[in-house]
Amino acid sequence: MAAYEYETHEYDVVVVGAGGAGLRATLGMAEQGLRTACVTKVFPTRSHTVAAQGGIAASLSNMGPDHWQWHMYDTVKGSDWLGDTDAMEYLAREAPKAVYELEHYGVPFSRTEEGKIYQRPFGGHTTEFGEGPAVQRTCAAADRTGHAILHTLYGQSLKNNAEFYIEYFAIDLMMSDDGVCTGVICWKLDDGTMHVFNAKMVVLATGGYGRAYFSATSAHTCTGDGGGMVARAGLPLQDMEFVQFHPTGIYGSGCLITEGARGEGGYLTNSEGERFMERYAPNYKDLAPRDYVSRSMTMEIREGRGVGDEGDHIHLNLSHLPKEALAERLPGISESAKIFAGVDVTKEPIPVLPTVHYNMGGIPTNYWGEVLNPTKTDPNAIVPGLMAVGEAGCASVHGANRLGSNSLIDLVVFGRAAAIRAGDVVDRNSAVPATNTASVDKAFDRFDGLRNANGNVPTAELRLEMQKTMQADAAVFRTSKTMKEGLDKMIAIAGKVDDLKVTDRSLIWNSDLMETLELTNLMPNALATIAGAEARKESRGAHAHEDFTTRDDENWRVHTIARIDGNKTDLAYRPVVKDPLTTEAEGGISLEKIKPKERTF
Ligand code: FUM
Repeated sequence: MAAYEYETHEYDVVVVGAGGAGLRATLGMAEQGLRTACVTKVFPTRSHTVAAQGGIAASLSNMGPDHWQWHMYDTVKGSDWLGDTDAMEYLAREAPKAVYELEHYGVPFSRTEEGKIYQRPFGGHTTEFGEGPAVQRTCAAADRTGHAILHTLYGQSLKNNAEFYIEYFAIDLMMSDDGVCTGVICWKLDDGTMHVFNAKMVVLATGGYGRAYFSATSAHTCTGDGGGMVARAGLPLQDMEFVQFHPTGIYGSGCLITEGARGEGGYLTNSEGERFMERYAPNYKDLAPRDYVSRSMTMEIREGRGVGDEGDHIHLNLSHLPKEALAERLPGISESAKIFAGVDVTKEPIPVLPTVHYNMGGIPTNYWGEVLNPTKTDPNAIVPGLMAVGEAGCASVHGANRLGSNSLIDLVVFGRAAAIRAGDVVDRNSAVPATNTASVDKAFDRFDGLRNANGNVPTAELRLEMQKTMQADAAVFRTSKTMKEGLDKMIAIAGKVDDLKVTDRSLIWNSDLMETLELTNLMPNALATIAGAEARKESRGAHAHEDFTTRDDENWRVHTIARIDGNKTDLAYRPVVKDPLTTEAEGGISLEKIKPKERTF
């Protein structure tokens, strides 16, 4: 047994991760007087939310008529009817409140002439239950909205006495024999010390796992750490086969060019200079949802109408927009285009390609953020002491495809919901659970095994093998053959974790070991993705199956529940929540409006 000394900490709540969801949860907990710690592997304002550009969706009606029910309808349709209806109602209803709270906390939103929060159009956001024109629903702070939100929430959390443990890497959860989460075990990266955080509630806000792919808009820190810890605790992941490709990653670097660029009037063209989205989505054109636009771009390239020497990408045109609008509304992406593509957006188009951007799947939760461990008899069984929010979680509001700018609103609505729920269920007067030494020993054994790993495969080599496999075989379009091959390859790749080679054995700033721990987190996320995709015999949202090209609501309007143990996968299914929170008589949406239908734009 590996012996590491450790320091013990006690809190009511420990939040793991300091992106938008983690900070909003931390702030909400601390505001209620819960003793709250936030543990994060990067400095809070460097979390990946900092890269969220275009904005945050809420039906404020600042730029024209809007309604929370229209937002809900768009989210239901955007999800291709895989989202949970109660959670989608909660999101759309609470969104305006959550945005005004951000405004009052101090987020420097861009303004209209009248001083209201500026809102821009984003893909899939419409009026009149999809019958009217596109709506301006996405509240923006230029094209640096996530950046502004992170700085504000971090400041407010400090003001409310939340305690931050910065550059602490969460190794594993502590779970009691009867399935209660009692804390988390961490490694402090800058001095090599070990820390055990005992808590009445642990909130996983660890972000997505975009780095399971070769080309992603995600930061290198997006390694699915929460999903990895959950899988090792014997808990499931949900709907992992739904991976969003953002239409406009810069060709080559994968760096994000916000959908706000098309919201402000930008458009895509092929090698013939044609605005091809007019053919695929006659009503909403370049502002169709992302799965739609990414597939259309891929089809153009496949049919020989891609741009560039190899005909393998598409052009995004902004040069027709006024220079002042570009400078005021899109300064960040104008700079990114210059740095990463050598393009002056006032003169030339940006070369772009659909790029992995977001994971719709994650740790299953209800709309309060409580983690679920579905059983045959109870599909909504809760794991006491454990919550998950943000991209790490799956509430599920995005279903099979997320609408742009519904991510930032998901972070704050559900970070806030988790805090409201914790305020109700965490007993401030009870004792903090004692250290679970069995969990600690197990975590240190795993840590020590990786630290001293002396096999034949360097971490970077195995990671690249995983990334290339996922990129090729769990792509925008998928076939039975590619997914079966991909699954077999991923099972073999995950099997090689036992043969890893780590060369640095130190404990201080050991990036070799940290990347190895991250790889062991990416692996179950990647396996669940390809296994869930291979099993799902239909096309829905971001899962475009070339051998089963239509949506099959009768057999597949269900959530995939994947349990991963090493390189073994076990799949089960859980019903989608079809009922909204409120009936039409109570002021809710009409069921007729949100019943499944063909999804066209
Ligand atoms: O395009 C963007 O600005 C990204 C926003 C989002 O993913 O919601």
